[in-house]
Amino acid sequence: MLKIDNVSVFYGKIRALWDVCLRIGENEIVALIGANGAGKTTLLKAISGVIRVSSGSIELDGKRIDGYPPHKIVEMGIAHIPEGGRLFAEMSVKENLELGAFPIRAWKKKNHEIRNVLRIFPHLRETQLAKTLSGGERQMVAIARGLMSKPRICLFDEPSYGLAPVVVSEVMRVIRSLPNEGISVLLVEQNVHIALQVADRGYVLENGRIVLEGNSTELLQTELIKKAYLGM
Ligand SMILES: Nc1ncnc2c1ncn2[C@@H]1O[C@H](COP(=O)(O)OP(=O)(O)O)[C@@H](O)[C@H]1O
Ligand SMILES: [Mg+2]
Repeated sequence: MLKIDNVSVFYGKIRALWDVCLRIGENEIVALIGANGAGKTTLLKAISGVIRVSSGSIELDGKRIDGYPPHKIVEMGIAHIPEGGRLFAEMSVKENLELGAFPIRAWKKKNHEIRNVLRIFPHLRETQLAKTLSGGERQMVAIARGLMSKPRICLFDEPSYGLAPVVVSEVMRVIRSLPNEGISVLLVEQNVHIALQVADRGYVLENGRIVLEGNSTELLQTELIKKAYLGM
């Protein structure tokens, strides 16, 4: 459904991605694993149109989407939940959620949708200001805001980062449930254990290059993953 072929990205003269190829199928959870600076966020930004691809192509259901601005990509069904959630601090939970509903199809039904997403996170309060939320609640509102656009693919950038284990479990439970709603997932993680528990398949990114790919059980048994990422 999402097909990334030979994508390269430069920041000025510095090359951040080298001929990256990646696939996401219908109702699939795919992990993208890599150390700090590997290029994971860069790839998510390239998919969501935040930065330009220098070469290569990104297709959604056979249609090129690289080159489109971020709001168009959201309308085409790809939601990007950025690192740390990035909420509007002075706005309430409800206002932050409404901002996620700007694609026309979602806007018409936004009140209905807000009720739907709040059912997934029952302890969030609509009127609470974003700046007063805990880290875990911020991440949950960010996920809920992403879901407000009625996406078919969700891109998560290190959703477990900085959260207490019990909150991580809650976030992962929600991510794991998305394929049942017809939503595919690209899960960026530094935490390999968490990522491969949740994902069907995974890719390992090192210095801007995909160096390994496979299904989660296979990957957990490779020497590279054991040595470099699990410290075994
Ligand atoms: N806006 C930018 N300008 C220049 N270099 C950048 C920029 N953003 C990221 N980089 C560089 O690109 C590389 C990949 O970064 P990033 O995609 O953020 O990695 P990751 O998310 O895997 O930690 C790093 O070397 C980083 O320093
Ligand atoms: Mg990053």
